[in-house]
Amino acid sequence: MPPAGTIRSFTSVNAMPDLDMMASVAGGNSGGLEQPTVRKGNIMTTDSSTIAGLDEQQSIRVTKTLTGVLADHVVLRMKLQNVHWNIFGPLFHSVHTMTEQRYLALTPSIDAIAERIRALGHPAPGRLGYLLKQSCLDEEGDGQLLDDLLDSCQQVVQQTRACCQTATALGDEITADMLIGIIGDHDEFIWQLRSLTA
Ligand SMILES: [Fe+2]
Repeated sequence: MPPAGTIRSFTSVNAMPDLDMMASVAGGNSGGLEQPTVRKGNIMTTDSSTIAGLDEQQSIRVTKTLTGVLADHVVLRMKLQNVHWNIFGPLFHSVHTMTEQRYLALTPSIDAIAERIRALGHPAPGRLGYLLKQSCLDEEGDGQLLDDLLDSCQQVVQQTRACCQTATALGDEITADMLIGIIGDHDEFIWQLRSLTA
């Protein structure tokens, strides 16, 4: 038996089931996929009772788009740190400070998105390789630190808005409400970055 508190693994990827496959079988059986099983003290439970008021198909669709948003934010946080560490020139101090504030502020947003996926009844992906594949961002960028950062922020806010619209359309106001706050923070940072580099 694993020690208390150990998360039982979810199939071989240890994070995300194949949501496309799950969507195709939602409403029926699990399609052979292992259900998320979490150890709570000495009780093993199948974590399928916390769909947050949505049916299975809806929760899968929200989770799928939310997973992309989580991945984008994780990659964006790394990009911000890269700029924070490597910026040089006359804007060094301003950019160094701004990017630190922003990557620190992203951490609770990332945590909230991941935990929302858990509340929707699915595992939160915690592997960098998986997240990199799910993100719309190009990790390499184009070599111009600030241009790439601005472009990345704009792509992330676009994806987050689309996710917010999907959640709203599916009746998941809680996810939508969470994302609205996150989008507002992005808009403010994009404005500051544009103003600094204009
Ligand atoms: Fe630092």
